Formats: sequence, structure tokens, C-alpha cells
Amino acid sequence: MPNTPARLETRSLTRRFGGRAVVDAVSLTIAPGQVTCLLGPSGCGKSTTLRMIAGVETPDDGQILIDGAEVFGPVTALPPEARGIGLMFQDFALFPHLTVAQNVGFGLKADRAARSARIGELLERVNLSGYGDKHPHQLSGGEQQRVALARALAPRPRIMLMDEPFSGLDNRLRDGIRDTTLEVLKEEGAAVLLVTHEPDEALRMADEIALMRGGRIVQRGSPYHVYNSPADKAAAAFFSDINVIRGVSRGALTETPFGEFLTPGHADGAEVDIIIRPQHLKIDFDRAGRGPNPTPMDGTPARGTVQRARFLGRESLVEFAMDFEGAKLTASVPGVFLPKPGTVLWLMIRRDRCFVFPAQRASHASA
Ligand SMILES: Nc1ncnc2c1ncn2[C@@H]1O[C@H](COP(=O)(O)OP(=O)(O)O)[C@@H](O)[C@H]1O
Ligand SMILES: [Mg+2]
Repeated sequence: MPNTPARLETRSLTRRFGGRAVVDAVSLTIAPGQVTCLLGPSGCGKSTTLRMIAGVETPDDGQILIDGAEVFGPVTALPPEARGIGLMFQDFALFPHLTVAQNVGFGLKADRAARSARIGELLERVNLSGYGDKHPHQLSGGEQQRVALARALAPRPRIMLMDEPFSGLDNRLRDGIRDTTLEVLKEEGAAVLLVTHEPDEALRMADEIALMRGGRIVQRGSPYHVYNSPADKAAAAFFSDINVIRGVSRGALTETPFGEFLTPGHADGAEVDIIIRPQHLKIDFDRAGRGPNPTPMDGTPARGTVQRARFLGRESLVEFAMDFEGAKLTASVPGVFLPKPGTVLWLMIRRDRCFVFPAQRASHASA
């Protein structure tokens, strides 16, 4: 690491409620201009983490540093307003009796000219030039959201903390607002920690995803990395439906109805789960019972019968009852293709897209 400290760093941040660590030794670093998404299921401790960084919740343990200086730790506890942090929550109530311009300028300590210049600049960034004199009730939900963003950014916070900021918006608006928000955040150069339980949102917005489960960060990395190299089965399952084929590793190979899989690093006789996302199952036609030929990349094909096919627009999700061991597998195919129930097809598995983990008994699986 160069000697520039991270804009925001947490070290082993911990919060307990009733003896249970709801945030358990969370360590994060975020650089200026970087968006980190804290992603995880409801109740995993995301908001509590954010609240500790904001200074409205007191950690039981750990340290928070901004630009290398401790703002919370064994000897320090700066109040929220001294941390230079901007906040945006799902319920981002604007002040109803103030105009848009007054809302944006609310937290600004500057003279009249600088103030109105900053307000104008931000309204332009969020595409609301000319809205300054309107009142919040005259705006759509998406427009209010953008005013809230401008208001949070007006004092040039070093850090922006956002807790599910888009979940109150209807679906059709969301992608556009996410993109505008991301653009503005990048221009402003704050370090951003965005909390969400939606994988799509994290994939779309994050430079780095910190995947959280049961109070702990289970994986950190780029969206590409976290999606394509999940840390465990639950991490894989958080982003999409998954298919699981169980087998036993022998001599670093596992024999399955789809041929052999490389399973290095697993002891002889160890049960393994081979995980495949629906889009990495390839479908081929029956060809009067012959099916496709095996290939080095896709291994041996296995036959199945379509049980159900759902058209989802861009893709169709097809559920198969396989000929072997009563297995059920789900494949995703381009939406132009919607096979009828009862159709016999062959499936192959892209070897380069599988994940192999030690087998987990159902009772040990975590959320
Ligand atoms: N003030 C509190 N007192 C007791 N339990 C709390 C308190 N705040 C949060 N919790 C619990 O901590 C866990 C994590 O909550 P939270 O951080 O809000 O999760 P998330 O934002 O990921 O949904 C939950 O089980 C929640 O019930
Ligand atoms: Mg929350």
C-alpha cells in the first residue's frame, strides 16, 4: 500500500445486542471516489455497521479511521457532526416547507454567493436545474430522491453512507436513478458505502462488494470476482439460483453423470458439492436419443425432461427432471426459446464455470 491512508477504514468493528454479536469484527477500507456495497440478507448487520460509522451507534469494540485519523477507538469518539459524513437513507424526508434550493442548501455553511453557486451546480448534476423554487410535494419520487442526494452532497462530505437509498422507488425508475447517483458520486469523489440487500444493485453500482452474513464479512472483491469466484455455496446462492451436484472426490477427480470434474484440494473420499449457475448449463437437442458428443470443455451430456419452463422476458428458466438419481436441474436459456413440458433435451455443464466446495449437510447450511 502507498502511504496515502484510506478515506474510510474500520478495524474489527463489533456491536453486540443481548450478548449476540450482530456486527462481528467488520474490517473495511474505502478509497476516495470508490463505491463499496455492503451486501447481505436482511438482518445480517448492515445498517448497524453503517450507524456505527456515522456515529449514531456506539461500537462495543474496534476502530474507525477517516483519512488515517481515528474518529472512534479506545481513546476517541467524535460526534457524528465532526466526522464529515453525508447520509442518505430510504426514508430521506425532505423538508416539506422548504423549496428545493433551500433543501439542498440546508447544511451548507457558506456565504450567499458560494451557497447559491453550489446549489446550482448540484441541481445541474442531478438534472434538476430550474426546479430550485419548487416545493417537494410538486416533485415525483425520483426527483425527490435526486434532491435528497444533492442535499447530502452539498457540504462536500468526505464519506457518503447510503442505506438502501433506492428501495422506496418503483422498479422502472430505479436503474436510471442508480446511474445518475453513481455518476454524481464519482464526480464528487467521496468514499461511498452503500448498503443493499439486492445483488443486482450491488453488481451495478459497486467498485467493491463486501458480502455480509451473520454479522461478518464473508467475501470482498470486485463484482466480477465475487460473482465468478464465490467464497462458499451460500455466497454463490446469494446472486442467483444454483444447481448442486453432489459427488465423492477420488484422486482429485469426482465422477458424476456429467463425466469427471477436477476437484483438487479435496481429500480422497470427501463429499463435494459442484455448483452450477442456471446460465452455465448448456442445452442440446435429443437427436433421436443420441444427444451431443462429449467435449473436453463441456464433458459428458446427461438427459433430462422439461418439467416446467417460465418465460421471463430476456431469459427463460427451464426446470429439468434428469434421468439420473431423480435429480432436478434448472437451466436458463435465451428468452426466444421456451421448450414445452415433456420435451427431452440434453444438458452439459461448462467446466470453467463450476464452483466446487466441501459438501454441506442441509442442517449446516447457513442463510
Ligand atoms: N437497538 C437494537 N437492539 C437490539 N437488537 C438490534 C438493535 N438494532 C439492531 N438489532 C438487531 O441486529 C441485527 C442486525 O440488524 P441490522 O443492522 O438492522 O440488519 P440489516 O440492516 O442488515 O437488515 C438484527 O437481528 C436486529 O434485530
Ligand atoms: Mg438495514
